[in-house]
Amino acid sequence: MRIHVVKIGGSVISDKSKPFSIDYAKLEAIAEAIGECIDRGCIDKLVLVHGGGGFGHYVVQEFGSVESSEAFLRVVEVMREMNSKVVEVLRLAGLKAFGIDTHAIAYMRRGKLFLDTATISAALRMGLIPVLYGDAVLDVVDEVFRIASGDELAWELAYAFRAERLVFVTRVPGVLRRGEVVRKFSLSRDLQSMDEVAVRGHDVTGGMRTKLVKGIGRIAGVGSVYIVGHNPRVIKQALCSEPEIGTQVVE
Ligand SMILES: Nc1ncnc2c1ncn2[C@@H]1O[C@H](COP(=O)(O)OP(=O)(O)O)[C@@H](O)[C@H]1O
Ligand SMILES: [Mg+2]
Repeated sequence: MRIHVVKIGGSVISDKSKPFSIDYAKLEAIAEAIGECIDRGCIDKLVLVHGGGGFGHYVVQEFGSVESSEAFLRVVEVMREMNSKVVEVLRLAGLKAFGIDTHAIAYMRRGKLFLDTATISAALRMGLIPVLYGDAVLDVVDEVFRIASGDELAWELAYAFRAERLVFVTRVPGVLRRGEVVRKFSLSRDLQSMDEVAVRGHDVTGGMRTKLVKGIGRIAGVGSVYIVGHNPRVIKQALCSEPEIGTQVVE
């Protein structure tokens, strides 16, 4: 299967500083861009992942962690709510979006993420677009609750399915170094030299640096990886050809 994985940043489609609100205009524009790429035939099979934005990040910050079952259950609750809103918009844009609860198919063992991919791969074969999200999950060995970020999930899915392309759509136009977008970013060489820009609003999974770090050990299985902003034209380029502005991530 030729698979694209697209991670839509939580901070793109919601405001991390404003709890529980979806930016419908941005999400609709992204959904339309993806729909065009499907119609044009440059995407065959697609897995979507979205981040926690003003839902999950906000709740984790309110509780301080997901250590308690109360915090865990609240994160699960608000992220399901966010996912159903996102799926609704994707459906209205004509996509065969199928919400899958991350906590039901993902778990950790001593902090390492594992996925049960059977439902996702069957859904792909059956023409659906699975839509997963950054979530709280169980660590089945340590018996604690942990956060699985949308970024880590996207990398893991891309790795597990040997994706042809992995595209991160985020608030910034790419990885910044000295204020400029880096064209090509090497995970083994360039992590020291990237800018350290503070993340705006609530964030519990670490912004751009951790987005990149989660690719170490996973990028080898993936065709091409791009980090782009949310301009629909650039998103289409990243999905079908090469983005005019954006960062290609390489080993
Ligand atoms: N060198 C960098 N280049 C780009 N963004 C950076 C950099 N360092 C930190 N950041 C921060 O990382 C953020 C992107 O991560 P995040 O807010 O988690 O986005 P997402 O919601 O897409 O996961 C940017 O908005 C920026 O604030
Ligand atoms: Mg993030």
